[in-house]
Amino acid sequence: MTELDTPPAPTTAPAGAASTGLQFPAGFGWGAATAAFQIEGAAAEDGRTPSIWDTYARVPGAVVGGDTGDVACDHYHRYRDDVALLRELNLGHYRFSVAWPRVRPDGGAVNEAGLDFYRRLVDELLAAGITPWITLYHWDLPQALEDTGGWTTRDTAHRFVDYARTVNDALGDRVPTITTMNEPWCSAFLGHTSGRHAPGRREGAAGLVAAHHLLLGHGLAVQALRADGTDADLGITLNLTVADPADPTDELDHDAARRVDGLFNRVFLDPLLRGRLPDDVLADTAALTFDGRPWHDVVHDGDLAVIGSRLDVLGVNYYNGAAHSGRPHPAPDDGGVRHPDLPSGSPFPGAEHVTEVSRGLPRTGMGWEVQPEGLTRLLVRLREEYDVPPIWITENGAAYPDAVVDGHVDDQGRLAYVAAHLRALHEAMAAGVDVRGYFAWSLLDNFEWAYGYGQRFGLVHVDYETQVRTPKASARWYARVAASGRIEP
Ligand code: NOJ
Repeated sequence: MTELDTPPAPTTAPAGAASTGLQFPAGFGWGAATAAFQIEGAAAEDGRTPSIWDTYARVPGAVVGGDTGDVACDHYHRYRDDVALLRELNLGHYRFSVAWPRVRPDGGAVNEAGLDFYRRLVDELLAAGITPWITLYHWDLPQALEDTGGWTTRDTAHRFVDYARTVNDALGDRVPTITTMNEPWCSAFLGHTSGRHAPGRREGAAGLVAAHHLLLGHGLAVQALRADGTDADLGITLNLTVADPADPTDELDHDAARRVDGLFNRVFLDPLLRGRLPDDVLADTAALTFDGRPWHDVVHDGDLAVIGSRLDVLGVNYYNGAAHSGRPHPAPDDGGVRHPDLPSGSPFPGAEHVTEVSRGLPRTGMGWEVQPEGLTRLLVRLREEYDVPPIWITENGAAYPDAVVDGHVDDQGRLAYVAAHLRALHEAMAAGVDVRGYFAWSLLDNFEWAYGYGQRFGLVHVDYETQVRTPKASARWYARVAASGRIEP
């Protein structure tokens, strides 16, 4: 449904011209993103049953402050106000996720009352002139499916297809883009190897097994929706990073960066865009077992061809890159953390030697380095190394400790972060990368997973006591960019 012809390259006004700044092409999409579990609340309404995040949030110590998704931003009841906010901010696109446990509670029969919420939301968006973009899976697996093995079983991929078809049948004629998984890396490795996300399993190679089944669910769903004659463009969203060697002259550092790149980026990109797993990742993980068998036994003949089904669009979530070393380094003293998300302490050969090394860059409230040029490099690399479909930036943004002063939030840190990343994006587009749009993460402050409500990513501030929404300075600035397609210096 999306126009697939190459859009005009963005232009940069000549230096010294009266109006300087960067102009994005006409038709470039400006939007904001959210996810069901992070904003909806209404955890037990209209037939919804628990997801793995409802369960995990109740494990003592799993989520900062013991926060849950029970109420969140109460978006389930306030979606009309939130759509009005999108409109007020001049945003033409809205990326949200559908909650599997609302639509097929316990992973079972279809629940029309749950689907109705998304029908109402899509009605409201279309009436406001906002194009909806659906993510099918943003981490809220029905708990009942986890109880039968979750993403470590092949059956879950087939249950995902049933669910995907339900959503497509109900909404696919009115929603131009449907993406299957959001950040399968997080679901797989944070969920099954490091245990920092739901379902909180710390089972080493289970992360690889889950990654395969997530990708299989994606590929099977793409094939099923195409067979059903969907009108929607189909794709997936990956969280990609740029892994640099801390010391470019050190072989061990290069090897550390290669491992991180393998387990963050290529273990997803290669199956999706080349129909194969990367040889070095296979070699590094050859000795790992799951359920007493080589983990790789879960990859059946023909799976990779299914996973490599054509994509209409690739969603890229970019927050930061990092420098890695293969030698022991002291913990960074600037708020950073050691190789935060590689399966540390896991049986991944070599992972125990990978250390993130501070480059002295500024960090956001999450402790993540601010590294906009990494976005340019990442996008150029995708174009050079893969046969990529048109790209959308499906997430980019930053958490900062915002203060509400006299009813205003002057979040200059977030504003500068988004501006710098838009400039980096523009540079990649000027180098020929086909990027069609940008979704800021996030429309609203929301439930930041294991960090609870303490980390705020919103363009719009949410007072969780009163549910009052207050657009921050970054939102006002972004609204001007969205209206003009232009970033002023
Ligand atoms: C990626 C995830 O998709 C989203 O749910 C999360 O809140 C942001 N990153 C920020 O961590």
